Amino acid sequence: MEEGQWRTARRLVREARRVIALTGAGISAESGVPTFRDAGGLWRSYRPEELATPEALARDPRTVLEWYAWRRSALAACRPNAGHRALARFFLRRGEAGLVTQNVDGLHTRAALEEAGDASADPALPIELHGAVGRDRCDGCGTRFPAEPLGDALPRCGACGGLRRPDVVLFGEPLDAEVLDRARELAEQADLCLVIGTSAVVYPAAALPLATLEAGGHIVEVNVRRTTLTDAATAAVRGEAGTVLPALLD
Ligand code: OAD
Repeated sequence: MEEGQWRTARRLVREARRVIALTGAGISAESGVPTFRDAGGLWRSYRPEELATPEALARDPRTVLEWYAWRRSALAACRPNAGHRALARFFLRRGEAGLVTQNVDGLHTRAALEEAGDASADPALPIELHGAVGRDRCDGCGTRFPAEPLGDALPRCGACGGLRRPDVVLFGEPLDAEVLDRARELAEQADLCLVIGTSAVVYPAAALPLATLEAGGHIVEVNVRRTTLTDAATAAVRGEAGTVLPALLD
């Protein structure tokens, strides 16, 4: 790891008044959750437009629901790793929300609850830009439910009869406006944006670090390789999130 980048990253973390962290699939890789675009990533074996679009859900709801049921069951065996835990401790210590994730795996939430113990986990709970696979939402009226195992019949909303589907953002669907506004506000107020384990190619999430930059703040990137954001970063720390984050944040 380049010493100068590391020193700069440490200094920016130490001196920052407001911090936002944007995470992607890379932070959960060490928990055994596959990423999307790396070798072995989900989008190397599956076509997003066949599995994760509103058109696919309308055309073949069972296949889409089964794919999410499979991802959900695979996640049941995964645990938050040292990277999730370091971020949870960091925001608990600061007492200020700032964690924003593109991940739908729920591991940041679990880390926050584990690290907070009995105390309120609020500052460490993530803003989940793309939703969470652990919840369902009615496709008709938007009511949210805890996810349930898939049976023979398609799951229906008790209130309106609409399809109960995972509460995640599919390709081509807009993000929840309130959720995105909160994340944008955090990005604009922050003087440091930590960008962790994301290829930073999916918008609007990828625009959040640029909002911090435009407001006069800095980007520190933590990733095992270069991304499209690397050149915009004041410091880019090469390494696995589970190793880098405890050293950078604790
Ligand atoms: P990607 O799979 O595109 O990128 C994962 C990133 O993590 C890459 O830049 C890797 O180099 C990096 N990485 C892998 N292992 C790492 C480790 N141990 N430590 C640090 N970095 C590591 O995943 P995302 O950027 O999260 O959206 O993808 C963004 C969105 O695209 C997802 O939220 C999902 C997907 O389509 C939706 O489903 C709406």
